[in-house]
Amino acid sequence: MASVFERSSSSAKRVLSSKMRFTSFVSLAVLCSIAAAVPTAPAPKDCSAEVAKYNMERRAARGLSKRTFYSQMLDLTCALSPEATLEDYTANPPIRTDITEGQPGVAFTLDIGVMNTSTCKPLPNAMVELWGPNAVGAYGTTFLRGATKTASNGIAEFQTIFPGFTSEGANHLNILVHPTASESSGVAHVGQLFFTDPWTDVVSQYTDYNKNTNHRMKNSADPVFAAANSGGVNSIVDLESINDDWPEGIIGYITVGVNPTKLVA
Ligand SMILES: *[C@@H]1O[C@H](CO)[C@@H](O)[C@H](O)[C@H]1NC(C)=O
Repeated sequence: MASVFERSSSSAKRVLSSKMRFTSFVSLAVLCSIAAAVPTAPAPKDCSAEVAKYNMERRAARGLSKRTFYSQMLDLTCALSPEATLEDYTANPPIRTDITEGQPGVAFTLDIGVMNTSTCKPLPNAMVELWGPNAVGAYGTTFLRGATKTASNGIAEFQTIFPGFTSEGANHLNILVHPTASESSGVAHVGQLFFTDPWTDVVSQYTDYNKNTNHRMKNSADPVFAAANSGGVNSIVDLESINDDWPEGIIGYITVGVNPTKLVA
């Protein structure tokens, strides 16, 4: 009898704990559906809670929270970003994580988390292409271009330099995401990654950024920035400086939401 009681009691415990898990899952799902029910058009899934957690875990893992201009996390949501047009693009960039190729500038480590917006879960084995201008705001044929695939945790990490601004838009980097680990597979996202103006202001004072003769456009003047940062979408890279020895380098975090089954190119 005692053993029957024990069995039933432990199975009751299992039911209880699975119910608790189920309850917390349901309340999250309810929040998501409320958020999604507000706009009249079908809205992309709201992964903001998952993105915030994902970003905090990545920050914590690096343990580099010494000096930053912004002590709070930016509003990080992963609703599907609107697609940007391909700009200064060269297809099939080399597969490499360090795309610096000797370009002088402030070292920039960029942690890009790719999330499946159907599930709000990290997307492994997605090929991420990254390209950007050098310190004086010029794109090259090979430098500062590359591609790498996301690891099992959905992260593609690049080593590059903080970009110098071009005259075409607010300071940004360019990104393209293939949902599978091949540069020749379809494209799930084309976008631009931005920075808050004070970061660009500060970096612009350093060599060789101070030789940049392009016209500086602030974020508020760029329609691409506006489109990529409205309706619950954020495309501003969250930045912090590495150690106290600014400008030793900057580390940036961004989460990009893609729908792997909806190709844009
Ligand atoms: C993304 O999520 C959807 C929905 O669960 C799933 O069917 C699909 O396999 C996922 N895609 C990848 C590439 O993991």
